[in-house]
Amino acid sequence: MTSLAWRIEKESVVDSTNDLVLERARQGEPEGLVIHALAQRKGRGRQGRYWLSPPGCGLYFSILLRPSLPAELITQMSLVAGVSAAEGLSKSTGVHVRLKWPNDLRIESKKTGGILCEFENSGDGLPALVIGIGVNLKTPPSGYPANLRTQATSIEEEGGQVGDFDAAIHSILERLKHWYQSFLSNGFSGIQSRWLGLCDNLGEMVQVSTGTDFIQGCICGLNHKGHLLVKTASGDVRAFDSGEVATL
Ligand code: BTN
Repeated sequence: MTSLAWRIEKESVVDSTNDLVLERARQGEPEGLVIHALAQRKGRGRQGRYWLSPPGCGLYFSILLRPSLPAELITQMSLVAGVSAAEGLSKSTGVHVRLKWPNDLRIESKKTGGILCEFENSGDGLPALVIGIGVNLKTPPSGYPANLRTQATSIEEEGGQVGDFDAAIHSILERLKHWYQSFLSNGFSGIQSRWLGLCDNLGEMVQVSTGTDFIQGCICGLNHKGHLLVKTASGDVRAFDSGEVATL
């Protein structure tokens, strides 16, 4: 592949960096665009949730990629993004950031960040994949809604060194460039094993909600498509390509 160069644009307050990057993608922007905002008014999380994005507390940025891959392989790109974010944050802050499927960023089983991937195929040209990354760097415990306080944390609260926010973004982008190129050249297997090495709840009993069903079992791996593998009490191994995973 041709070498990928990031073009980082900095904004002060926006509604959502994912919306801005999606809009630019519709206008034909090539891959490599990164929009970083100091705060968001309408930060969006997975499953239609709101992502709290106050100034001075965290990273809020979105990346445009245009991988020439069949749509079913694009889902693996969200795990590529998770591995890159975990590695980049660990390297730049010194705390060990781990992953919960599909790509929650966690420290000591608490959520410190998340990734929202959105895919658009307008039909003309390469499809657009927008990877939105939100990380609690310095959010104080009082900064989360009361119902999330026991489940959320920040890098600083966990003892990480948080200096220049830009340095953390550069570190994530450096890992993303590495893993994206590895994925395009060598496929998913290297990412699959790295993801499993970073997974913080392998072997745990969980409940997966699919929207129509609740399945309980033990997390036993990740298949070659990036789907989560859960072994149920009957011994069946079920593969999930989407869903919410809750610890039992
Ligand atoms: C999650 O629910 O875990 C994913 C959260 C993703 C939040 C980021 S912040 C930057 C980008 N812009 C958004 O509106 N959302 C993502």
